[in-house]
Formats: sequence, structure tokens, C-alpha cells
Amino acid sequence: MIPVVKTIDEVRNYVKAWRREGRTVGLVPTMGFLHEGHRSLIENDCVVVSDFVNPTQFAPNEDFETYPRDIEADAALCESAGAKLIFNPEPSEMYHDALTTVSVDKITKVLCGKTRPIHFNGVCTVVSKLFNIVMPDRAYFGQKDAQQLCVVKKMVKDLNFDIEIVGCPIIREKDGLAKSSRNTYLNAAERKAALCLARALSTGRKMICDGEKDTERVADAIRAEIEREPLARIDYVEIVDLDTLEPARDASSHILAAVAVYIGKTRLIDNFIID
Ligand code: PAJ
Repeated sequence: MIPVVKTIDEVRNYVKAWRREGRTVGLVPTMGFLHEGHRSLIENDCVVVSDFVNPTQFAPNEDFETYPRDIEADAALCESAGAKLIFNPEPSEMYHDALTTVSVDKITKVLCGKTRPIHFNGVCTVVSKLFNIVMPDRAYFGQKDAQQLCVVKKMVKDLNFDIEIVGCPIIREKDGLAKSSRNTYLNAAERKAALCLARALSTGRKMICDGEKDTERVADAIRAEIEREPLARIDYVEIVDLDTLEPARDASSHILAAVAVYIGKTRLIDNFIID
């Protein structure tokens, strides 16, 4: 069975042994409760999956306590996907009396950063720590969290981490809903309602593919489609430049169309990219 370790020293010992054998090392940072979206990030290399619900990226009113956890199921998924090690630390192993944080300016203040002002500081800090603990050649992130991927790439560039960041496509349920650990919060009616995100985004994408260049018109169509769903409440619908995350005018290339929508109490995100 795949080893599940709790301490930084143990992770370093495994990685050192792989390095002595000349193997390359991959890191897949997750918060656990793994699904096929996470599995798709586990590729080649000697892969370490970190499985840590990171308290510093949740605000007090958010779902840190109730975030789903199932380390046994996660270990089985990682094992079958070919990962070599799971790092499942307690918060005390990751943070004791820490006074240092990592923050990326500007691109963390838009989109999800508006409703979740401390979120990306927590993400950047924990991801930096994981990079320093594992020191991987490559780290894998899903496009599902497109802003997170953009922020991590910028942080790696700005802080000269010698790590290749690999972005991986969004994995969806058969009916189009983007896979997410938070989908477990949805009751049957909400699960149905949640399809409005993917449906609205595919309407928007089709408009662009059919030649619409005006981002406002595309965003309006996405909004209108979501608003037809009574259980949905829009947090944001935005079309932005893929690197700067500033509002884009021309929808035809290098854009990220991103939405965040509350379905009941559950906040879901989804997006598409035209590059
Ligand atoms: P978590 O939400 O568990 O996601 C871990 C990784 O899986 C992220 O890179 C995310 O984009 C990717 N992922 C999630 N759902 C996906 C899907 N449907 N298709 C493809 N990839 C998907 O993101 C986090 O954890 C945390 O913020 C973390 C980076 C671990 C820092 O704590």
C-alpha cells in the first residue's frame, strides 16, 4: 500500500532516496477527498500527493471544519493512479508559530480574490512550503482553479522556484458539471441546478467560436443563462486576460472566461480558456 506520512522529515527522506536513484519527482498538491480530476494530475515521475486541508486559505465564515475528508479512499485512489507517497500532515506540522507568509499582489485581488480576500495568501504560502519540502521537478495544477494556476505560475516566476508548473484540463462529470470535492455538499435539486455553470459557459464559448468578439456580450449571455436557474446566485462572471487577469475586450484569443456561482450555500467555480 502507498505510504501515508505525516512529517516533513519523512517526505524528505523518500525524496532523497528517489534522487539517489536518479528519478524525477512530481508534486500534486491537494486538499484530499480525491476524485478523477485529482487523479488526472498524477502523471509519470515519482509523484508525491499532498493531502492537507490548509486552514490558512479558509476565512472564518468558510467551510474549513466541514470540508470533506477521507484519507483511506484517497490512499486507494493515489495507489491505483501510480503515485508513490502521500503527505498528510497535521496543521501543527505545517504551521507552528509561523510569522512568514507569501503573497502575490494584483492578480489575487480580482475574481475569487474579491469574495475571498485572504484565500490566495494561504494558497501561496502553503504551496511555497510544499515546494520547499518536496523540491519537485514538476508540480501539477488543474485549470479548474484557473486563477490559482495563474497565481502559482506568477509566484514561481517571481520567486525563481526551479519547478515546472504543469496545467491540466478540467475533468467533468458525464453531464458536464466540473468535478469538485465540494459537489458533495449539493442535494439532488442543487446538483441539477449546478449544471447551469457548464451550460452557461458552453453558450459563451459557442458565441466566441461563432465569431463574437465583444466580451461584454458574451459575459451577458453567460449571466442570463445562469440567472434562469432559480437556485443559482452569481458571485461573478468575468472574461479576463489569461495572464494579467484584467478585463479583456476582445474575446477571440488569450482569455479566461470564469464564473463563481452560489448554488444554495455552496460556492462553485468553473471556466473556459481560449488561447
Ligand atoms: P483541491 O481543491 O483539492 O485541488 C487540488 C488540485 O486538483 C488543484 O490543482 C485543482 O485545480 C485540481 N482539480 C480539482 N478539481 C479538478 C477537476 N475537476 N479537473 C482538473 N483538476 C482539478 O486547489 C487546492 O486543492 C488547494 O488550493 C491547494 C493547491 C492544494 C493548496 O492548498
